[in-house]
Amino acid sequence: MSVDIQHIRSQFPILNREVNGKPLVYFDNGATSQKPQVVLDVLDNYYEKYNANVHRGIHTLSQEATDLMEESRRKIQAFINAKHDHEVIFTRGTTESINLVANTISQLLTADDEIIITEIEHHSNIVPWQLVSQRTGAKLKYIPLTADGILDITKLDDLLSDKTKLICVNQVSNALGVINPIETIIEKAHAKGAWVLIDGAQSVPHTKIDVQALDCDFLAFSGHKMYGPTGIGILYGKEDILNQLPPFHGGGEMIKDVTMEVSTYACLPFKFEAGTPDVAGIIGLGAAVDFINEIGIDAIHTYEDELVEYTIQRLSEFDEVEIYAKDAKHSGAVSFNLKLDGVHSSDVGMILDKKGIAVRTGHHCAQPIMHHFGIPGTVRASFGIYNTKEEIDIFIDGLKTAIRMLG
Ligand code: ALA
Repeated sequence: MSVDIQHIRSQFPILNREVNGKPLVYFDNGATSQKPQVVLDVLDNYYEKYNANVHRGIHTLSQEATDLMEESRRKIQAFINAKHDHEVIFTRGTTESINLVANTISQLLTADDEIIITEIEHHSNIVPWQLVSQRTGAKLKYIPLTADGILDITKLDDLLSDKTKLICVNQVSNALGVINPIETIIEKAHAKGAWVLIDGAQSVPHTKIDVQALDCDFLAFSGHKMYGPTGIGILYGKEDILNQLPPFHGGGEMIKDVTMEVSTYACLPFKFEAGTPDVAGIIGLGAAVDFINEIGIDAIHTYEDELVEYTIQRLSEFDEVEIYAKDAKHSGAVSFNLKLDGVHSSDVGMILDKKGIAVRTGHHCAQPIMHHFGIPGTVRASFGIYNTKEEIDIFIDGLKTAIRMLG
């Protein structure tokens, strides 16, 4: 299936702008993606026509806003193939989704329990578990990396035990773009009765996720990396597991009854959605899902794989470039450095920016990976559906300039 990239690009107003006098080449999609006109229009439309608080008013505007919000929940349910729409919880983003699970599950854990995470996680899938460990005494264990920076899955059997209650792992590393063997991890965890949380921040925008086929217990992801607004994210959880967890935030909408002495809680998903939600963000995310569905997630996946392969091929032309986890299967991003004395990733990023090319540099909120390689950071090029091979050629020309200037 082929995609009409020029048609897709024409839907992103920001791609018309220049940066430092050059056409913008936006390769920082791992941090946040740009937004198509349909998403921008939906946000405007909401504030112009439907703005009201949800689930609270008998009046027409409140009903309309509530209907739009719940329609969005059902779109997301279908997108990840969740069994029930109430298994889709709205949060502020992947970080809050993971913190929701960490905070609530910590009330079920004791010092005899163990949690396994990995050395390839984003800080948002490390720090919450360190906090849980400090709070409960539960032991935190890490699946290590091989010398090449790939998850050493052969170590999992030794780490797993009857004490393991939860394994948390990203499907795709934000820092290196490598794909992790989550299917194996889920199978082995379930054989020990442990739950699995998948950080899908870097995978859901790029590849088809079917939570029922995958059989993950939780999936966390963000709207802003999948062409949706910032400040909106999703926690998917299996119904029976979410029902076992206590509430996260206390407040309006998450209760059934409140007395001065005690409160009882609303059913899913509202138990986890205290306070006024980001209604515009939720509806905007629904529009982003429509945008992805119109192209087709499989077509996006195939096209973006071509971009990644082409980037690795072009970067391999340089003796001065070191690509991290080069031989692993990547998705959506490639991370590298220039092997030049005293050159930092930010030096490369600044030279590329002068040419209108946006990449992320530094530790990518994944310092344990940087410690593993003994480096302070990398240059990361990360892609979206509107990027092209011509842009990769411009980026490679920019890199040649950087090598000339910094070498
Ligand atoms: N987690 C985002 C990134 O990797 C911000 O850039």
